[in-house]
Amino acid sequence: MIKIRVENLFVKFGEYQALKGVSFEVKAGDFIGIIGPNGAGKTTLLKVIIGEIKDYTGKVEVYGKMGYQPQLNTVNREFPMDVFTYILLPVYVKNRRFTRKERERALDMLKRVGLEDKAYSLVGDLSGGELQRASLARALLSDADILLLDEPDSGVDEMGKNTFYELLYDVKKERDLTIVMVSHDIGLVFKECSTIMCLNKTLHCHAPTEKISPDKLKEMFGQFDLWIRADKHYEVEHRERSI
Ligand SMILES: Nc1ncnc2c1ncn2[C@@H]1O[C@H](COP(=O)(O)OP(=O)(O)O)[C@@H](O)[C@H]1O
Ligand SMILES: [Mg+2]
Repeated sequence: MIKIRVENLFVKFGEYQALKGVSFEVKAGDFIGIIGPNGAGKTTLLKVIIGEIKDYTGKVEVYGKMGYQPQLNTVNREFPMDVFTYILLPVYVKNRRFTRKERERALDMLKRVGLEDKAYSLVGDLSGGELQRASLARALLSDADILLLDEPDSGVDEMGKNTFYELLYDVKKERDLTIVMVSHDIGLVFKECSTIMCLNKTLHCHAPTEKISPDKLKEMFGQFDLWIRADKHYEVEHRERSI
């Protein structure tokens, strides 16, 4: 069963072509990892799918209910709002109110992601990992069966990452989720995802994880900064941009 179909997608910001002729399908139960350098259009692609960017050409079809975890650096942490309100905000925007049942579900969801004692803390006081978990709780509250995650582990320490992916796996199984995740961490994408998409304005590859070799990816994206997971530590590759 197809959950997302994108056909010949083009996105322009003024004269700048951010996405060019992107086509792919996402099947139910897929866990897709999207990798690509900064500025590749990864966030733009998720925003088109979620409906936040409406100015595009091509076809985008979604069959299901989406939950979206935005990129950390796009979340306004200055706004004086507690975690409970933060995760219920999409519900409020839709219905102009929260019911008691929704409040209870929100508290349960905070328990689920291990943030029950932070419900009334300000969003600005959370650590990176805590905010990412709050954002996941928010994405899940909508009863989504499709999750779009934009670098859900950036700003999260190593232990926090393991907790985050364990949680994500549990919820994926429970809810039969389809997940599209942007990540900078090639090693992690190889470990966690069933399908890999390499995006740099156009789609350079789209294949099951076992058909793509990490070395080939490093070759393809080698001139950019990419996180490569090595055994138990992270290495960052810094090379000159050659194009
Ligand atoms: N609203 C916007 N207006 C103008 N340019 C934008 C806008 N959003 C993104 N861009 C540009 O489009 C390119 C792709 O951005 P983005 O999708 O955020 O890349 P990525 O998430 O892969 O790092 C970047 O060069 C970025 O500066
Ligand atoms: Mg991005």
